[in-house]
Amino acid sequence: MPIPSQMQAIEISTPGGPEVLRPGRRPVPSPAAGEVLIEIAAAGVNRPDVLQRKGGYAPPPGASDIPGLEVAGTIVALGPQVNEWKISDEVCALVTGGGYAEYVAAPAVQCLPVPQGLTLEQAASLPETFFTVWVNVFERGALKGDETLLVQGGSSGIGVTAIQMARALGHRVFVTAGTAEKCAACEKLGATRAINYRTEDFVAVIKQLTGGHGVDVILDMVGGDYVPRELACLAVDGRLSLIAFLGGSKTSLDLSDILRRRLTITGSALRPRPVEFKATVARALREKVWPLIEAGKIRPVIYRTFGLEEAAAAHTLMESSEHVGKIMLSVRKKN
Ligand SMILES: NC(=O)c1ccc[n+]([C@@H]2O[C@H](COP(=O)([O-])OP(=O)(O)OC[C@H]3O[C@@H](n4cnc5c(N)ncnc54)[C@H](OP(=O)(O)O)[C@@H]3O)[C@@H](O)[C@H]2O)c1
Repeated sequence: MPIPSQMQAIEISTPGGPEVLRPGRRPVPSPAAGEVLIEIAAAGVNRPDVLQRKGGYAPPPGASDIPGLEVAGTIVALGPQVNEWKISDEVCALVTGGGYAEYVAAPAVQCLPVPQGLTLEQAASLPETFFTVWVNVFERGALKGDETLLVQGGSSGIGVTAIQMARALGHRVFVTAGTAEKCAACEKLGATRAINYRTEDFVAVIKQLTGGHGVDVILDMVGGDYVPRELACLAVDGRLSLIAFLGGSKTSLDLSDILRRRLTITGSALRPRPVEFKATVARALREKVWPLIEAGKIRPVIYRTFGLEEAAAAHTLMESSEHVGKIMLSVRKKN
């Protein structure tokens, strides 16, 4: 099939509510050196897309203003200096924007093969959370050996990935979630214990579950007044890895805990990191995590799929926080 010059894409017409997401026409991007052009079958919706829509998370310099950080589809064109892929390969890819569209240009090194046994839609649900969890739990958080992990927001897209990846790599995982149903879903995915943060104090429960030892690593998307409580339930030499501040970016801390128990507070944002860094993460995932997906030890958790033109409804669902796992957009071509 020839590549058209124009495509359908979802544009953020102005910062605001879900209704500002509008279908529009854009030129099909051309792949630059080191990039491939992907004809998109499906794209993932992630909470950072909601922040971008509201005007609080501008794309990094040079990135598309079309939202969407992950896709899967078929490679239909190669830019210069691409050796690892060929036309008609099916891949999933991490992108810095442009996912809510029919085509996207992606760095070849940020593409991964569709794991055997997965559909393109399932593969599209992987990149953003798998890259983020790998970097923040296993690299920055350095979870290792028989250490334990606490994931705040266990039923989120990030949470369902963190539970399964840590569990498949041999760790005990505790999570928090906001309803009994979400807690049950997290335990079904492999969490040793899900704590309903609306009815239980996660500090007391973690201390009791670990015999007073605490957890070794915490993956946190809440921040705010969770942070001092998180330091209280970290083990000696424990690490707190921050990826968002849904509960606020300011807090007050007693720093003496950090000295007495040798705690580390770290954090990172994936999107602005350079292509070379993302390439190292892609290689680690392909080597260490893709085999676990292909062995059925980690599976995609898709809550609901919308058509591309229904992106506003997908954002409304995400902001309701009703979902467990991922919300997806399916790109059906209208010729
Ligand atoms: N740093 C990075 O590189 C990076 C990359 C990707 C994503 N992120 C961040 O990671 C977070 C999760 O992303 P996602 O796409 O997985 O989102 P998601 O599926 O919408 O999940 C958001 C989760 O946050 C919980 N939550 C929302 N407000 C909360 C609050 N005030 N207190 C406690 N929990 C709250 C919700 O759980 P309940 O409904 O149970 O409260 C829900 O599970 C987002 O904040 C996103 O911006 C960071």
